Amino acid sequence: MIGVLVSGEGSNLQALLDAGLPVAAVASNRQGVRALERAEAAGVLSAAFPLDEFADRQQRDATMANWLQEQGVRLVVCAGYMHLLTPAFLDRFPERIVNVHPSLLPDFPGARAIDEALAAGVETTGVTVHLVDEGLDTGTVIRQEPVPVDPAETLVTRIQAVEHRLLPEVVRTLCAQ
Ligand code: GRF
Repeated sequence: MIGVLVSGEGSNLQALLDAGLPVAAVASNRQGVRALERAEAAGVLSAAFPLDEFADRQQRDATMANWLQEQGVRLVVCAGYMHLLTPAFLDRFPERIVNVHPSLLPDFPGARAIDEALAAGVETTGVTVHLVDEGLDTGTVIRQEPVPVDPAETLVTRIQAVEHRLLPEVVRTLCAQ
């Protein structure tokens, strides 16, 4: 069973749902986001774990990990989840947490990867699916696919299209392991 962590739009969550993958639960660090609406529309259990409702980040992460494990989650997918995870969460799903990122890591980690690739003037950027560790987009790379920057006006759309294909493919493989 898969647990998906989200923070915003949830288009990657939607791609996982549309691929028919066994998503058991969706957890968000923010209330009222579109991703939670998508979970509800798909009939998937969801909950928000805002940081300000907990003493600290570790306590939030431990509570979120407990909740996911109660739903039978064995594989966690960060799909636009915008907080770093602490060991209180990471240690509960060793080697079983993946993230999708809109660049060819280790180039352009962080929240502004596409803008930074454009500003740097690179010809090629891409999409990475990687294991999650304590760092900012630093875990072991599982799959990467390059995307040409030109034409820049459509770069975001083309990167998203690759994300929505690559992430379900990798997750399907991991589910079988
Ligand atoms: C994606 O581009 C993902 O790579 C990045 O944040 C974005 C989330 O989009 N980590 P969505 O919420 O899945 O639509």
